[in-house]
Formats: sequence, C-alpha cells, structure tokens
Amino acid sequence: MNNFSFQNPTKLIMGKGMIAQLSQEIPADKKVMITFGGGSVKKNGVYDQVKQALSQHQTVEFWGIEPNPAIETLRKAIELGKQEKVDFLLAVGGGSVIDGTKLISAGLLYEGDAWDLVKKGQAHDTVPLGTVLTLPATGSEMNNGAVISCHETKEKYAFYANYPVFSILDPEVTFSLPAHQVACGISDTFVHVLEQYLTKTGESRIMDRWAEGILQTLVEIAPKIRENQHDYQLMADFMMAATMGLNGFIAMGVSQDWSTHMIGHELTALCGLTHGHTLAIVMPGTMDVLRKEKGAKIMQLGERIFGVSSGTHDRRIDETIRKTEEFFRSLGLTTRLSEEGIGMDVIDEIEKRFNERGVHFGEDGLVDGATAKAILTRVL
Ligand code: NZQ
Ligand code: ZN
Repeated sequence: MNNFSFQNPTKLIMGKGMIAQLSQEIPADKKVMITFGGGSVKKNGVYDQVKQALSQHQTVEFWGIEPNPAIETLRKAIELGKQEKVDFLLAVGGGSVIDGTKLISAGLLYEGDAWDLVKKGQAHDTVPLGTVLTLPATGSEMNNGAVISCHETKEKYAFYANYPVFSILDPEVTFSLPAHQVACGISDTFVHVLEQYLTKTGESRIMDRWAEGILQTLVEIAPKIRENQHDYQLMADFMMAATMGLNGFIAMGVSQDWSTHMIGHELTALCGLTHGHTLAIVMPGTMDVLRKEKGAKIMQLGERIFGVSSGTHDRRIDETIRKTEEFFRSLGLTTRLSEEGIGMDVIDEIEKRFNERGVHFGEDGLVDGATAKAILTRVL
C-alpha cells in the first residue's frame, strides 16, 4: 500500500423525502443561488420539493446548465451570482449541473475569466456548495472534481475545487431518468471503479475487495434495473455504488489509471457522445492494448467478477475483456466507434492533441498519443 492522506468532508443525506432537509442544511441568513439543467426537475417534482424546502430562504435561480457544462453558459451564471451577491450555491441535477456549479463557486471569488481556473486545473477559494443529486454516475456529489467544456474550441478538461458541504440523495428522483442515461450512469460508475482497480495486484487487499464489491453489485443490479427502474432498493444501491465509486474511498494507497476517461473526454468534446457511453467503447481497448502491464489484475477481475477461472493466461485475459464488453452491451450501449459513425479522422485528431499536450496517462505513464491511437483503433 502506498502512503496517502485522506479526508472527505461531504455530508451524505440519503433517502426518500430527504430533500426537505435542505431547510436545515443551508443557514437561514445565506443568499442562495440554485442551479439547474434543462428542466427535468420541473417534470419529476424535484423543483417543487426544493422550492418548498427553501421557502424561508432568499433564493436566485439559474437555469440551463447543459450536459457537459460549457464555460460559455457558466460565465453567465457567475455574472448573475456576482450581481446578486450570493453566498451559497445549491446544485440540483446530475453531474453536469454539479460540476458546472463547482466552477461557479470558484468563479464567484475570482476576478478574471473562469476558464483560466479550468486551464490551471484547480481553485482554492470557493463559495460553499450543496447538491441535490438526480443522476447517479459521476460521484461529483461527494468529490472535488469537475469537468468543464468549451464549445468554441471543442475542449473538455477536469479541474479540482471544492467538495460539496452536503449532498442529498433520494433514490425516488431517479425513477424519471431516460433509459440511456441510466445505462451511461452504470457504465460511468463501473469504469470509475475499474480505473482505480485495473492497475497492479497486491497493493491493497481491502481496496481490491471494496472495488470488487461495487463491481459485483453493478453486475447484479444492472439487468434488474433495466427491467424495473422504479424499484427503490435497486436505485438506492445504484446511487450508493456511484457515490462510493468516486469519492476517494476505494483509491486509498493504490495506483490509478484515468487514461480511459481522458480519451473518453476527447470523444465527447469532438463528437458529442455521452460521457458514460464513451467509456464503454474505450475501456475494452485500454484493457487489450495494456494487457501485458495490467494482465495480473485483469485475471483477478475475470476470476472474481466474471467467473473466468480456467484456460491459458492469454485466453483468460481475452475472455475477461470479452465479458467486460458484453456487460456494457447488456446495458444497451454500443461498444465500437464505427457503430457511432466515428472514424480514423477523430482518432488522428486525438493522437495529435495528446502529442501536442505531451501527456503520459496511466499508472506507468504509458498512454501518450500513439497508445491512445492504438486503443481507439482496437475499438474502431
Ligand atoms: O438537464 P436536465 O433537464 O436536468 O436533464 C438531464 C440531462 O439531460 C437528465 N437528467 C438528470 N437527472 C434526471 C434527468 N432526466 C430525468 N430525470 C432525472 N432524475 O440527464 C441528462 C444528463 O445529465 P448530466 O448531468 O449531463 O449527466 P451525468 O450525471 O452523467 O454528468 C455527466 C458530466 O459529468 C462529468 C462528465 O464528463 C460530464 O460532463 N464527470 C464528472 C466527474 C466528476 N465531477 O467527478 C467524473 C466523471 O468521470 C465525469 O467525467
Ligand atoms: Zn466518469
């Protein structure tokens, strides 16, 4: 186990009817800017619950934070927040609304253009932020990351700022999710866990077992959720899996490899593919191209999650990659670029961007432009 320090300050508030707790979680003297996406919360009753809970608070609303939140939109929110002198933010939505609001919370205390903060990769001064999560996937409700896009340049970058002070998770609000978003949320969660797991064996038994517990839970509940997305217990487990998958708890003292995410972000930025979907396409390619380096851990994944326990070393790795891809397809997602009309021109552009940026992703720094190209070509 590698050395580490760990702290996660977010208070989790979980369960049916818990949105009402907002009135106690946000101090009464705060002026709150509530941020939303495109309007799903008006159809599923979440908006009414939030407004009722905050009926005694002074509030300002900002609407229109889109999937893959864009700096162009967030600049407007920052301007409004500064004008209104808000001193608390409440994000009501999925990862995009929460991520966008993390940038707003830093932008409110920054004099320059908020895109500078994204390019810098981090911000320290932030206005406090709470969340009401409506889509289990990103873990943004309990981590300090955010991913922000720029439409003008077709770029998408992660940056790190603040943990939410609290996050409210009511599984009932997920009943209204479109099936494709559920599939992408499960895929995103599965890949978050893999990226903190599929590196080296023998670093930590406890981290391995926690990660495997989340993976196994997802494999078990995914087909049931596809049958009945209104099952409270299933959706509660899905929500907890997503939160636990990216709140730091399974990353303590172990290597990580975020190259699948970094490649996936380029596919979203260039082609508009939904985040979780990009990962379902890229991950089997990453596993195959790095099969030598990750071989022992892929074998462990195969044996413990997919029951692949016989055959030669190579056959077991092949079978585990096949089962991983099959799992993504069982969610209703395609797993090849050509199925989405994406070809070599996009792969070449991603290779060029990675070369220009001089990146070396992955636990051993092996994923540069050429490796990214090999990974994407494998899943063409
Ligand atoms: O905008 P509205 O109308 O609310 O509709 C949204 C949106 O169209 C809809 N939706 C959300 N909750 C719903 C609902 N529809 C019906 N009922 C509900 N309960 O779903 C659509 C997608 O929402 P979005 O927030 O974009 O999805 P997600 O939570 O998957 O977030 C994706 C973003 O998070 C970033 C991704 O890159 C992407 O930009 N990520 C953030 C991370 C982090 N902060 O740690 C890590 C992740 O790896 C990821 O990169
Ligand atoms: Zn993700």
